Parts: sequence; C-alpha cells; structure tokens
Amino acid sequence: MSAINIGPDPSLAYRPNLEMNKTKEKQDYRNYERGSLIDRVFNTYKLMHTNQTLDFVKQKHSRWGGCNHTQMTMMDAVMSLDNLVDESDPDVDFPNSFHAFQTAEGIRQAHPDNDWFQLVGLIHDVGKAMALWGEPQWAVTGDTFPVGCRFQNSIVFRGNTFLDNPDEKNPSYNTEYGIYEPNCGLDKVLMSWGHDEYLYRVLKFNNCSIPEQGLGMIRFHSFYPWHSAGDYMHLCNENDQRTLLWVQEFNKFDLYSKSTEMPDVDTLKPYYQSLMDKYCPGVLRW
Ligand SMILES: [Fe+2]
Ligand SMILES: [Fe+2]
Repeated sequence: MSAINIGPDPSLAYRPNLEMNKTKEKQDYRNYERGSLIDRVFNTYKLMHTNQTLDFVKQKHSRWGGCNHTQMTMMDAVMSLDNLVDESDPDVDFPNSFHAFQTAEGIRQAHPDNDWFQLVGLIHDVGKAMALWGEPQWAVTGDTFPVGCRFQNSIVFRGNTFLDNPDEKNPSYNTEYGIYEPNCGLDKVLMSWGHDEYLYRVLKFNNCSIPEQGLGMIRFHSFYPWHSAGDYMHLCNENDQRTLLWVQEFNKFDLYSKSTEMPDVDTLKPYYQSLMDKYCPGVLRW
C-alpha cells in the first residue's frame, strides 16, 4: 500500500498548546522537545493562514459542495483513511481508521444509548479523504476559524501567520463582525475550508438522517477557538449554544491514546455497518 503522507494533524496528538501559543511565536517553539514536528505544524498553519481567504473558501464550496467527485459507501470512506498514515512519525504509524474506531468505541462506552453519537465518532474525520484527492493538508486538517471577519487572537499561531493573507488588510473583512450580523448563527458563517465542513456538506447532500447535534459535532469539531477558547460567541445564536455543549462532549473522545489497545476493526465492523445502514445507507455521493 502506498500511503500518502499528509503530515501531522495538529488537531490530534500534535495540537500546539493553546496557552503556550498565546505568548509564543515560532522562534520559541524551535527548542521544544519535538522541535521539528512543531516546525512542520507551524508551516502548515502558515500556509493555511496565508491562503484561507473568503474567496478561497467560496471556491472550495463550489468545488466540493456539489458532491460530484466520486461515489462510495461510508464504510469504504472510513477504511480509505488508512491511506493517510503519517509516515513521518513513529508514534502514529497505525492506520487512521483506528482513530475512528477508537473514538467511536469511547463514545459507545459513555453513551450506549446514543447510537448516532457513536456513528459520528466513527465518521468525523472521513472528510480527510480530500487529501487523497489532491487537496493540500492546510485545506484539509488543522483547526478551523471563520473567514470574512477579523481573525481573532484565539486562533492557533495567530501571531504573525496572517500577515500575507489579503483579507487581513481588507476593511470589509477585518472588523469584529466583518460581513456578518451580530449573533447571526454559525450556520451563516463561512469557516476556513477543511474536513469538518466537507463531511457536513456530504451528509446534507445525501440526506443522511444523523440528528442536528451530530451534524454540528462533525461541522465544528476543529473549531478550537470556539469550543475550547470560548471565542466567537458574538456570531453565535441560541442554537449554537446548544450545539456547543455537544461539540465539547464529542471533543473528549476525539483524541489519540497511544496506550489504548488497538481496536479489533473486523469484529466491530458489523455493528457500525448497522448504524450506517440506519443513518447514512448505501452508496453516497462525495
Ligand atoms: Fe477531525
Ligand atoms: Fe479526529
């Protein structure tokens, strides 16, 4: 199998510490114990924060939103993540689908009655398949943030990574609200393009019946400035406040645990297939 190296996913084991990031810049990270890794993470964010403009996000919506790229079942999509193994780091040389099953099983233990929540755990990162189809890592993984309004200080590596982003200097986009109305609701906010929004679009396009809370978890699980830093509340409505609680609950399970035993995927598959048959059956359009 020829694995595609998409580099470290900062939204997982390699997330820079947000508290540290508030006061430190790239220079300070160089002697961090995992220095080269932090450099790679920084470079990914530098590219992301330079290129994710409002126009760029709109382009990605029109490129991917029509779901005319390919057709496959949800289970095939989950298993396709195995082609995204990060070859560059020995700590995560197990297939990506293991993370999916680990997350799902963690949720299943804590929430045995919410089968849709378990399914969300399994599929939440499936949008990363875009990396297999040519999207660069900075448009697939990592933390997300709204475009079309000021880039807030709660964004990871906020310091100087946006200097070359034209929106940073655009007076229509660089104010507190930018193009948005106060408390307009996140549904109306365009987020930096990545695997969250893409999978959300795919599920909506295919009329999947996952409850709204589950769709919210999928759509905003990488929106760390919101669900972990408490920022962007000025764009949120009451519905978002409810979604936030679910996203935070989900986030507890969206972590690699290197000491955890690898899940027995073959044994678990039939159960999760039954959840897919219930909520996102058959061949889907991507
Ligand atoms: Fe994710
Ligand atoms: Fe994840």
